[in-house]
Amino acid sequence: MVDFTKVPTRVGFFAPERFEADIHDCEVIGKVPKDLNGTFFRVGGDWFYPPLFPDDAVLNADGYISAFRFKDGIVSYKGRYVRTRRYELQKAANRQLFGYYRNPFTDDPSVRDPERPYLRTVANTSPLVHAGKLFALKEDGLPHRIDPVTLDTVGPWDFEGAWKSQTFTAHPKIDPVTGEMIAFGYQATGLVTDDLFIYTIGRDGKVKHEQRIKVPYVSVVHDCAVTQKHILLPFGGYVTSMERLKAGKIHWGWDATKPSYIGVLARDGDGKDIRWFKGPERCMMHTFNAYTEGSKIILYAPFYDSNFFPFFPPIDGTPWNPQKAKAYVRRITIDLRSKKDTWTEEILWPFNVGDLGRIDTRFMTLRQRYGYTSFNDPDRPFDEARAGNLRGRVSNTYGRFDFETGKLNRYFVGPTHSLQECCFVPRPGSREEGDGYLIGVASNYAEMRSELVIADAQNLEAGDVARVILPFRSTAQVHGIWADASELA
Ligand SMILES: [Fe+2]
Repeated sequence: MVDFTKVPTRVGFFAPERFEADIHDCEVIGKVPKDLNGTFFRVGGDWFYPPLFPDDAVLNADGYISAFRFKDGIVSYKGRYVRTRRYELQKAANRQLFGYYRNPFTDDPSVRDPERPYLRTVANTSPLVHAGKLFALKEDGLPHRIDPVTLDTVGPWDFEGAWKSQTFTAHPKIDPVTGEMIAFGYQATGLVTDDLFIYTIGRDGKVKHEQRIKVPYVSVVHDCAVTQKHILLPFGGYVTSMERLKAGKIHWGWDATKPSYIGVLARDGDGKDIRWFKGPERCMMHTFNAYTEGSKIILYAPFYDSNFFPFFPPIDGTPWNPQKAKAYVRRITIDLRSKKDTWTEEILWPFNVGDLGRIDTRFMTLRQRYGYTSFNDPDRPFDEARAGNLRGRVSNTYGRFDFETGKLNRYFVGPTHSLQECCFVPRPGSREEGDGYLIGVASNYAEMRSELVIADAQNLEAGDVARVILPFRSTAQVHGIWADASELA
């Protein structure tokens, strides 16, 4: 018997979806650009069975991949659960078997296996397309290969045995110049281990180079940044231990006394040469991009001042502080000639933003001008009467942040909607940075359904070019990517 009554998200916009969907030729308001030929893949989490612990992190929900497929001005939708080992075991048992987020000691005895924590992955964080293959990723396990047409799960992928880490980041970076992918795995050799392995994977999908490092302390290394020369590994604040896990707690807690770090190493170098730069308390989750210029590395990132996740509470027993859980668009400069182990940081806009920042990925690793992310524009209030006071409503605006001039352009989604992460789609045939579309899924609270919005990225103030309407609430996305049809022939 399925009983969600103890789960806080049982009702509201992000209540469990628990179904799979196919819609051929979705309803559209406006005109979908006919030159868009490809797919917007999204990955997120959806509890198929209620969690064993009602206060568990939403990050522990079953992986769900969806696809908006564009061709000739028509958009079709498909959504499927990722068939992880965990999903299949639970479906066979007709119940939830796995406990807290990344704590195998809290699992049902029938599946408990702390020696192989990677087998618990839910593959619920981000999609990836590289070397003609589609994957669903989560940082606690291997990528899951997905059939790009049917969205059927093929299974875990270890790059023909060449990937030696037990884990694989949700945020690899693809160099648009070489086609190489830089990816890493932390807790690479087991639960709470301080090993982090970094790999360069060629355009052909084969592992070319490996570097192995030890981290200063075991923490969330969620994202990275890659330049033409360097790899940057930012992290800070989150801590864990085997004692903590054996005590039955959720994997991470927040330690405000811990410094933040950015590890810098050469792409073609040896892990033993990594240099660790140190900063103040920071929650460093996502990056926009970085580039190397002379002896300096410039990193743009929407890092938080402090702990963003209320379900990873402070270890000193103090309550989670929402005032410090704010992300700002930051420029971080690391001077490799300096003997000091610190960086300089500027906050470029004085208001807090969604930390799921994106760029025109044709400029990944290179000097780029624009970053895109969502935020809540207070000059455009929500319509409480029509939208209701519902959970999860955060951002009403996508911004294009011009790092060179400080200019901000805005796309406003409407007074009854909230925006998930955006994605930049290059205009076919264009080469200029920022020439393309900004797309993303909006939650329409007034009508309780999801809509894919499509805006001209160079004319955000003009509003939508088109909206693709789903007749239901779509599973919440963590991350999404655009894949041109030519990438998945
Ligand atoms: Fe992420």
